[in-house]
Amino acid sequence: MTFDFDTVIDRRNSDSQKWRKYAGTDIIPLWVADMDFAAPPAVIDALHRRVDHRVFGYAKPLPSQVAAVIDYCWQRYQWRIEAEWIVWLPGLVPGLNVAAHAVGVPGDAVLCATPVYGPFLSAPKLAGRETIAVPLRPDRPGQGARWEMDWDALERAVTPRTRQFFLCHPHNPVGRAFARAELERLAAFCERHDLVVTSDEIHCDLVLDDVPHIPTGALSPAVAARTITLMAPSKTYNIAGLGCSFAIISTPALRAAFNRAMAGIVPDANLLGFIAAEAAMKHGEPWRRELIGYLRANRDYLFDFVSQNLPGVTMARCEATYLAWLDVSALQLESPVTFFEKHGVGLSDGTLFGAPPRRFLRLNFGCPRATLTEALTRMQRAIHARPQPSFPSSPAPIGGGGHHSP
Ligand SMILES: Cc1ncc(COP(=O)(O)O)c(C=O)c1O
Repeated sequence: MTFDFDTVIDRRNSDSQKWRKYAGTDIIPLWVADMDFAAPPAVIDALHRRVDHRVFGYAKPLPSQVAAVIDYCWQRYQWRIEAEWIVWLPGLVPGLNVAAHAVGVPGDAVLCATPVYGPFLSAPKLAGRETIAVPLRPDRPGQGARWEMDWDALERAVTPRTRQFFLCHPHNPVGRAFARAELERLAAFCERHDLVVTSDEIHCDLVLDDVPHIPTGALSPAVAARTITLMAPSKTYNIAGLGCSFAIISTPALRAAFNRAMAGIVPDANLLGFIAAEAAMKHGEPWRRELIGYLRANRDYLFDFVSQNLPGVTMARCEATYLAWLDVSALQLESPVTFFEKHGVGLSDGTLFGAPPRRFLRLNFGCPRATLTEALTRMQRAIHARPQPSFPSSPAPIGGGGHHSP
């Protein structure tokens, strides 16, 4: 290994949201989606050089930064994009909210598949649209379940006022990297119902299995024409605090609507974010490859640990991201998050993703192995120390279907 992912960097007294949540406690935070690793050296060097310039006025992306995005899309996904398709953003949550405003009118609806990253559920509502949540379906109960689109439920849920599909690809929190056949089926569904696809691909370079990421917009020019792709180097290269993301929109009218919805509200991307993004996309690949190896080993270790040492917990198959989706229903806990916090581990509550209460937790394994091992040991002790419930043989069905209010 050329790069160091093992050293534990002390973030406790830093500005980290992840660590400050539990300041003054001994709780290991495995909740919000950033990693406890240093950014790639090439990114840090580029930032140093820019800081040494000493002037930090309003910034505009340099031609080399635009070229870095175009080259990256070509080299990583064989996807040819053009400079004018790129709309820079300070983050992808603003991107989701802008997309919600840009398509249709208040009273229309946005479809999404749950459980899903919270802003997918809130952005349509903030734009006066209805959120129609259709539960994903695990292909089997228990350990290693693969969560899939429920095509029949999608057909039943779509309404004449539905204008848009919010796709999370790869999917946070269930860790799916959707395959070409699934994407094509989804694109056909969206074409049949005349839906714009907003495809949030922030986790696109965190595919852990040996399969390529296929951008939705790269399926065909016809699919691209109805797609707003949202991307950023922020998750992969661990630079989320630097605020630099982008949308790729090939259709001029859709791009104009997106730009109109942003006008006067969404600030520019961050100056240092542009620098970091360019360095990451141009020079980050050797680091990223090693990162993927490290995360894959963490995922496998976690998966085995759950199978062998955490009775009453199962983990979904995780093809991408550094986020594990844990089903803890069999533990019958009143508040799973509080239970594990009391035993020194901070996890995300499944209800934040539109999952039913008391059933799911999300665990962030983007950390040194030593941190993960300590957290899992605490979880194991917690489970063994608690009063034993009688494990139900089959938990209640997942998700209520139909319309969702987060
Ligand atoms: C699917 C998805 N989209 C967007 C974000 C956040 O994007 P940003 O920090 O750029 O607003 C996250 C963060 O976890 C995410 O998982």
